[in-house]
Amino acid sequence: MLNRPQTEFIQAQLLPWRRIGPGNARPDAEFKFLSRDDETGGCSAIIRYPAGWRREAVEHVDVTEEFYILDGEIEINGQTYSHDTYGYAPAGATRQTMSSEHGAVVLTFFSAEPSLIAGEGDGDHITHIDALHMPWDMTLNDPKLAHLGISRKDLYANPETGERTFLSMILPHSEPPNLKGPQELHPTVEEAYVVSGSLTGPHGTMTPGAYFWRPPGIAHGPFGTRWGCVALIRFLGGKHENIWTPTEAPFSFNAPYDPVLPDDLSAFAYAPWQPPPRY
Ligand SMILES: [Fe+2]
Repeated sequence: MLNRPQTEFIQAQLLPWRRIGPGNARPDAEFKFLSRDDETGGCSAIIRYPAGWRREAVEHVDVTEEFYILDGEIEINGQTYSHDTYGYAPAGATRQTMSSEHGAVVLTFFSAEPSLIAGEGDGDHITHIDALHMPWDMTLNDPKLAHLGISRKDLYANPETGERTFLSMILPHSEPPNLKGPQELHPTVEEAYVVSGSLTGPHGTMTPGAYFWRPPGIAHGPFGTRWGCVALIRFLGGKHENIWTPTEAPFSFNAPYDPVLPDDLSAFAYAPWQPPPRY
């Protein structure tokens, strides 16, 4: 599930929509891959459910699924998941019904190939975390990141593996002191999707829709943001910790887009996409 190349970073708007075929989870919806493990089929994707999409047969998938509603809403087993709601579906979680009356766009993470299986599974229930109405945890957990004013909303934590999923919020007008700072690295994969705002680092400025998958041990940063940033972050493959380099790297809000991408994504990285005009 974690054997994926560094992808840092791609604006998801540049990637093409594809239709989900029969036999896979969510047939007839559309998706775009953000990253994928070719051996296991584990993947991170954006799934777009058209208005009126509906499954009524009892079914499940035998892999874990995490999802965060970016827009719209979906219904699962009679429960509504509105925008800014997160769910964790253990492997084998049964879906009696699933639908989207008005459509939805959902950030979705499957731990392995999500093949659709008819009938009930033996998995536990699907969680429902209403992040929109959850308070931000503003406690500081690493003094070296104090200049970013980071707050978080915890969405998922696995006590056995240490893996976590959370929303991270960085205050506007944050930059490293003296425009330089140490770089951080983790013993885990770090994966992120920018929900709002912007975040600038050595690879350029991420805007809403930006996605990265960073394998363990890659030094990154320092980061800053003009207008603040909210990103959904996952640490995978162990317990996250920050390890800091003894040397410092420079920071600039004008860092050009300089991505590290696998071959199948690099062709899209320079398409003529521009963020919507602000004025
Ligand atoms: Fe990091």
